[in-house]
Order: sequence, then structure tokens, then C-alpha cells
Amino acid sequence: MPGETVTNRSFPLAGRVAVITGASAGIGAAITRSLSDAGVFCVVNGRRSQQLEDLCQELGPEDVTPVVGDCADDVVIERMLDVAKVSLGTKGREADIVVINAGRGLAGSAVTSDAAQWEEMLRTNILGAARLLRAAAQRMLADKKSDDRRAGPRDIIVLGSTVGRHISPFSSMYGSTKFAVNSLAEAARRELGPQGVRVTLIEPGFVESEFQGVAGYKPEWFAEVKGRIGPVLTPEDVARSVRFVVEQPEHVHVSDILIRPTRQDYP
Ligand SMILES: NC(=O)c1ccc[n+]([C@@H]2O[C@H](COP(=O)([O-])OP(=O)(O)OC[C@H]3O[C@@H](n4cnc5c(N)ncnc54)[C@H](OP(=O)(O)O)[C@@H]3O)[C@@H](O)[C@H]2O)c1
Repeated sequence: MPGETVTNRSFPLAGRVAVITGASAGIGAAITRSLSDAGVFCVVNGRRSQQLEDLCQELGPEDVTPVVGDCADDVVIERMLDVAKVSLGTKGREADIVVINAGRGLAGSAVTSDAAQWEEMLRTNILGAARLLRAAAQRMLADKKSDDRRAGPRDIIVLGSTVGRHISPFSSMYGSTKFAVNSLAEAARRELGPQGVRVTLIEPGFVESEFQGVAGYKPEWFAEVKGRIGPVLTPEDVARSVRFVVEQPEHVHVSDILIRPTRQDYP
């Protein structure tokens, strides 16, 4: 990269290969639709096979391929990256976009939340993110060094949260997992940016999805939030941010996007 001619033209999205975790619902499904619409081949992950199968049928099974399983499982992670490399239209190429999106919330603080769910949340939100980031980065770096390296940017996108930047005493265990990925993403940006891999953190505020039900937020509480600060974000609002990041010319890195409903005051 240093010494190369700078062009302000974006590298085309069409024909790139993406891996997206947590694509069976919400933000991950919206990111998949948006990237697929731009001609990106997608490998989609989640634990529910039917939802992934429906998404593949909707977008075209030749362009979108499911890998079902736990996003924190090393075997599943290698499978996602292998499928991206060998099974899609651009056979033999490593994924050049990896979206680390799978995650879950948990209502309550360190004192009041259900401690029986802590381990699964930490495993999914932190270990799953770190393991995929590591595996994707190793492959991207090897790809860039190989003789037949492809032109074009490499992107790792990590879903953080506003509660991973501004402390909320009301979701302190969930928030602590997002503080962890905030730090992980910025450390990886400093390590990998100089080697040509863009690591980006997207930090949404309130987004209406399955998230609230999985986290165990009371419907009446969320209805009150929406009444006070709504309209809240849709998954498509977040997907536009991801598309904006990956569309930038290779020498431009929009490395952090905080996106909130306009009327959200806190956190
Ligand atoms: N919604 C919000 O207000 C909000 C705000 C800030 C940040 N975020 C973050 O954005 C990301 C997506 O959230 P969302 O709103 O789209 O939530 P969602 O609608 O509940 O979707 C979560 C996705 O993650 C997948 N997932 C969860 N655990 C998994 C595991 N162990 N292995 C594989 N996939 C797993 C789920 O699929 P399966 O159930 O099929 O496995 C689902 O596809 C999360 O990281 C979340 O923390 C959300």
C-alpha cells in the first residue's frame, strides 16, 4: 500500500465474498440483504437452520450459503471461512468482508441479571468475536502476502453497542461484553490497519429486533422506551452503515460508527 497510487474510486462490491454471523435475524439478516443486493457472495451463520435456509432461498442459494452452528465454536468458524473460500462463485478466494455480528443481550445489572446466562453471553459476545476476528485476520494477512493476491480492501466489522462506550448501570453485564469488543476492535485496528486490513466498530443504540426478547427486557419497558425516544432504529438503518464502510476506497477507513435513534438521549 505505501507508495501505491491513491484512487478515490471505490473498489466494486460486486463479486466480493462476505461472512456474516448472526444472520438468521435482525441486523445480520439486514446486512446480508444489503450486501447481497450489491452483488456480494455471502456465507451466513446462526444456530437456527430454517431461518438461514429461508434467507438463502430469498436471496438466491447460489449466492448465499448457510453454515449452521455456534459462532464461538472453532470448527464452525473454520467451516464458515472454508465455505467462503471454496463454495461460492469466486472459488479459491478468502472472504474479504467478515461481519462479527452474532450476539445477545441480558436484562439487568451485575446484581440483578440472571447469572445462569452470563457464561453463554460472554462466550458468544466476547470469545466468539475474538476467535472469528483472529481466524479471519490470519487468513486475510496470508491472502494479502500471497503471490496471486487480489486487489481490493479487506474488512472486519465488529458489532459493538452504545453501552460498550457509555456505561449503563441497567445492562452492566451485557455492556461489559461490548466494552470488551470495543477494546478488541480498536486494538485489532491498530495491529491490522498498517497491514491493509480495516477493522471497524459499529455501535448502535436502540434497534428493534429479536434482541429485546432474547435479552429478557419486559415488553412494557421497551414500549415505554419507544414512546419516549422512538422511532428507534431498524436493522436496515445499521446495515446502511456497514455498506457505507465497505464501499469506501481502499485507503479510507471509517473505523467507528455510533448510530442512535435521533431522539435517544442516554446512554
Ligand atoms: N438490537 C439492539 O438494540 C442492539 C444495539 C446495539 C448492538 N446490538 C448488537 O447487534 C448484534 C445483532 O443484534 P440484533 O439486534 O440483530 O439481535 P437479534 O435479532 O436477536 O439477532 C441476533 C443474531 O445472533 C445470532 N446468535 C446469537 N447467539 C449465537 C450463537 N451462539 N451462535 C451463532 N449465532 C448466534 C442469532 O441467531 P440464532 O438464534 O439462530 O443462533 C441471531 O441471528 C448483536 O451483537 C447485538 O449485541 C444490538
